[in-house]
Amino acid sequence: KTTLSALIGKAAPLIPVLHVENADHAEPLAEALVSAGIVTLEVTLRTAAGLEVISRMRKAFPQAIVGAGTVTKPEQLAQVRDAGALFAVSPALTERMAEAAAKIAIPFLPGAVTPTEILTARELGLHELKFFPADIMGGIGALKHYLPLFPDVSFCPTGGISDANVMTYLDLDNVFTAGGAWLAPRDLIEAADWTQLHARAKASVAVVAK
Ligand code: 3PG
Repeated sequence: KTTLSALIGKAAPLIPVLHVENADHAEPLAEALVSAGIVTLEVTLRTAAGLEVISRMRKAFPQAIVGAGTVTKPEQLAQVRDAGALFAVSPALTERMAEAAAKIAIPFLPGAVTPTEILTARELGLHELKFFPADIMGGIGALKHYLPLFPDVSFCPTGGISDANVMTYLDLDNVFTAGGAWLAPRDLIEAADWTQLHARAKASVAVVAK
């Protein structure tokens, strides 16, 4: 069974959480990020354009690891797979979403933040989890508490991550990547400011490469 961490491999452990209103932004946005060294792209289903953006990014950048974010309904798992998503992220976990993801064997990263949610996820065979909203749900301190309890569970924190704190998260043994909108701010996407977006992304890649 493929996992998100296996897909990411040696690529930069950063996942921009993308809010894209205009499907025509798919290619220049992916270009700005991939050329900056950010190859794992989470396109959220918060906009109507989400599915089209996923398929256009996949076609234009076959080397990019494009996935879907903000999956909140079981039926969306097959939809994002059909659009070409290589992984799916959800803010939460339900049994029906876990079943739908297992059925199509797509790497699935559901949100789990409490010990009960983490154990529930593990019982459903899910060992890689989104920790969201990290800044509100205990951040670094909570993840440090979880390591000795759940050594076989690894997290992708999102929510309030920035260049200032991303390394503190990535230095934890139970954090395999970190995500957030700071890597590709929504206002820069809306302004189609690909130059600034590329520079923004590059700065974060430099922070984690240290
Ligand atoms: C997510 O869905 O992961 C969050 O919207 C990311 O939070 P951020 O906007 O604080 O990065």
